Amino acid sequence: MMMRRRVFGLIFVAIMAVVLVAGMPGCGKPVKIDITPPYLRDLAEQLNFYIGTAVGYGSQTFPNNSQYMRTLKREFNAVVAEYTMKWGTIRPDRETFNYRPGDELLDFAENNKMMVRGHTLSWHQSVPAWVENGNFPRDEAISLLQDHINKVVGRWKGRIREWDVVNEVIRDDLTGQTGENPRRGNSVWERSIGADWVEIAFRAAAEADPDALLFYNDYGIERKSRKQDAVYALIQDLQGKGVKIDGVGFQGHFVCGNVPSEEELKASLDRFAGLGLRVQFTEVDIRIKKPVTPEKLTLQAKEYERIIKVALEHPACDAVLFWGVDDGHSWINSWDKNYGAPLLFDSWYDRKPAYYAVRDYLLAEIERRQGGEEGEENEKKEAQDG
Ligand code: G3I
Repeated sequence: MMMRRRVFGLIFVAIMAVVLVAGMPGCGKPVKIDITPPYLRDLAEQLNFYIGTAVGYGSQTFPNNSQYMRTLKREFNAVVAEYTMKWGTIRPDRETFNYRPGDELLDFAENNKMMVRGHTLSWHQSVPAWVENGNFPRDEAISLLQDHINKVVGRWKGRIREWDVVNEVIRDDLTGQTGENPRRGNSVWERSIGADWVEIAFRAAAEADPDALLFYNDYGIERKSRKQDAVYALIQDLQGKGVKIDGVGFQGHFVCGNVPSEEELKASLDRFAGLGLRVQFTEVDIRIKKPVTPEKLTLQAKEYERIIKVALEHPACDAVLFWGVDDGHSWINSWDKNYGAPLLFDSWYDRKPAYYAVRDYLLAEIERRQGGEEGEENEKKEAQDG
């Protein structure tokens, strides 16, 4: 008995030692992190803008991780479910609609005055096996898609401002050859319904909530490319058929050092805004090829500032959402281990140079606009004074 107590005692001491050492300065884990105001959300609100983030679900993130939740509430005024509003969560089988995680996020968002983006009503990924392997005939697949959209959009009607109705329809490997089909072939909707499934999805969403803003969302369209051309043609085709489409989401999954230039980003937003659409950066992260160094973090900060600048300056853009709160919970960590540190907060929820770059730009923009207003006031006064 004595021996067992001694062993347990030694284990306890060892654990405490690790905890203490890990918390000491110089071990990378900051003892005290900076949480001084102003916060991103307060600055964004002064600019009538949304600065948001994708929100995970479970013990490590929303709603159970207290540090995650503190950072989320403090810094963001918009949220999007990283996974819990996809088919994979909502529809484990044909009869089930599992709304609970989505309900929890909406309640949280409303209690914290956050705008909610819905993501995503249709996609070639996160499709449950009973759909993916269902081999449904066209008519049945159409009614399955329409029923899903009708019920899910209807469930949260008036509470979700905007939906990614269709996500990532266009292939990444376009060659530009004449007659090339730009659509992904690995989509159960494309396979079972055919190309008009996109139009069907948008029409179903518009019927379910006529006031919701309906978006097409994709990556790899943030600079001129064959993929961007194909998305542009897809949207023109939808508009030509009288389909309600309100916006395009530029996901913005970038590699540090390869973020499009300010001119490229602006030209891409201009191109789609020219179709009368809203434009948003919807899933921004800038992954860094390891090893992560102070120099790379500085470059990342400059690139985040570039994105915020382009977004704030564009009259058709009112939102930038990051694809995650902190580096510790980014999809990148399981997607490509050669890259890391993609977000504004590190794994200990401490602010990175990227955070300060975004915050400083928001502050400068507020001052610019106030200066502009004062300038206008002065001009008006001078004109009155003659
Ligand atoms: O919740 C289940 C859990 O119960 C289960 O034990 C576990 C192991 O199977 O899986 C968990 O679900 C995972 C989910 O993330 C939540 O963590 C899914 O397997 C996994 O596929 C899913 O990955 C998400 C991926 O989309 C596919 O839906 C990523 O988190 C998410 O960041 C990623 O986000 C996409 C956007 O929706 C679209 N644009 C690209 C972006 C990055 O791929």
